[in-house]
Amino acid sequence: MSDRVYIFDTTLRDGEQVPGCQLNTVEKIEVAKALEQLGVDVIEAGFPVSSPGDFNSVVEISKAVTWPTICALTRAVEKDIDVAAEALKYAKRGRIHTGIGTSDYHIRYKFGSNRDEILERAVRAVKYAKKYVEDVEFYAEDAGRTDNEYLAKVVEAVIKAGATVVNIPDTTGYCLPAEYGAKIKYLCDHVAGIENAIISTHCHNDLGMATANTMSGLLNGARQCEVTINGIGERAGNTALEEVAMILRSHRDIDLSTNINTTRIYPVSRMVSSLMNMPVQPNKAIVGKNAFAHSSGIHQDGVLKNTSTYEIIDPKDVGIDNNSIVLTARSGHAALKYRLEVLGVSLSDEKLDKVYEEFLKLADRKKEIHDDDILMLAGADRAHNHHIKVDWLQATSGIGMKPVASIGLDIAGEKFEAAATGNGPVDAAINALRQIVRRQITINEFTIQGVSKGSDDCCKVHMQVENEGKLYYGFGANTDIVSASIEAYVDCINKFAD
Ligand code: KIV
Ligand code: ZN
Repeated sequence: MSDRVYIFDTTLRDGEQVPGCQLNTVEKIEVAKALEQLGVDVIEAGFPVSSPGDFNSVVEISKAVTWPTICALTRAVEKDIDVAAEALKYAKRGRIHTGIGTSDYHIRYKFGSNRDEILERAVRAVKYAKKYVEDVEFYAEDAGRTDNEYLAKVVEAVIKAGATVVNIPDTTGYCLPAEYGAKIKYLCDHVAGIENAIISTHCHNDLGMATANTMSGLLNGARQCEVTINGIGERAGNTALEEVAMILRSHRDIDLSTNINTTRIYPVSRMVSSLMNMPVQPNKAIVGKNAFAHSSGIHQDGVLKNTSTYEIIDPKDVGIDNNSIVLTARSGHAALKYRLEVLGVSLSDEKLDKVYEEFLKLADRKKEIHDDDILMLAGADRAHNHHIKVDWLQATSGIGMKPVASIGLDIAGEKFEAAATGNGPVDAAINALRQIVRRQITINEFTIQGVSKGSDDCCKVHMQVENEGKLYYGFGANTDIVSASIEAYVDCINKFAD
């Protein structure tokens, strides 16, 4: 029988730290339920002491899911651990994930401390967490750059103190696969009592080696890996869940298996991308739009003769259903509900009514409604409590004319109108809006992306703006590119007062 690898999903903690990707509690519950259906073993639901929002999410996720262990992150600080334990009180299986930086960079520059003191703090934190829960995971932050001999000493001490899992993060994404694998093997060979804990990988992708490092860790004795959906995470992200799951499934020669129901991979990937407004790069392994699209004639010919010529994975195995039902304006409430459920989204009746209303409006403008459109609608109620709203917008552009736009805004019930020109219709509309909202705003990032296909497609706009030294993220979605851009801009400026 193959050895089991535990999948620890940190989409809602490490993944959610990406600027502009924050979810509210309701959205986090939706993702957590989808992760449960996917078959993950552990859900890291947040860092409770960091904010009341994170605390609340851990509480609500603990109530909402049954099978996965719910994990809460802490520093090696008693207050953090108290708060995490409180947040986990409804979890059927709760885990506290505590830890401290162990590399000399962290010890010297972050803590102004020394190795002995850090070891003592690590042990104290684990013992303290053990007062609350049996399942305590310890992370040695920046283990990737920690001296192996010292790391082994820390790991041995925390296992003796009761740690059930020891996490060896390559926090900066620096390690080479052979080096990371050797580190895990070193721990297996040199730590007395290592058989009493599970070794976990936690790899970052700064040099594009997160998945390779995770695999190397697993091949050298780790039995848990910490991953995120679509590999999202700070900077270049974390190891992608879908990549590890499909490597282990495809390589039968590796005698390791997971509990992942791979046919749920694609729906969860789309859901996370949609709720977090984080596009998936088209060439992303397993879940990118082009991952199974053969465009060269030779490949197409081969695949038509026999898919195994150029495909190592059947797209259906990861839940890509090319024959998925397309909804139209004639589709009823029940069809929408059914399709959302297939995609792993279950909504309250009230929310479903709202989504159906938006669905009908979109179906009026767009003949076919695809899964991505539906997911976008299901996650798009952020504009409802905006105090600045667009009443109307008109933009004209074309060849041989100066683009011009006029706009009507409702700001907390008061009406304003303005018009302006620009170098294109979006520029003109934003110039008009700036005449009303007179603030110093710089647009740092502006991405427009089609949701599905066709010239009647819906487009998504992601925007990052800067105001008084602070960054704000906004999102818009519309079949009209200018309207979507203005929605994203208005979404940003509505956050200024937050
Ligand atoms: O990358 C890292 O070191 C982490 C720890 C807090 C587990 O995310
Ligand atoms: Zn991390």
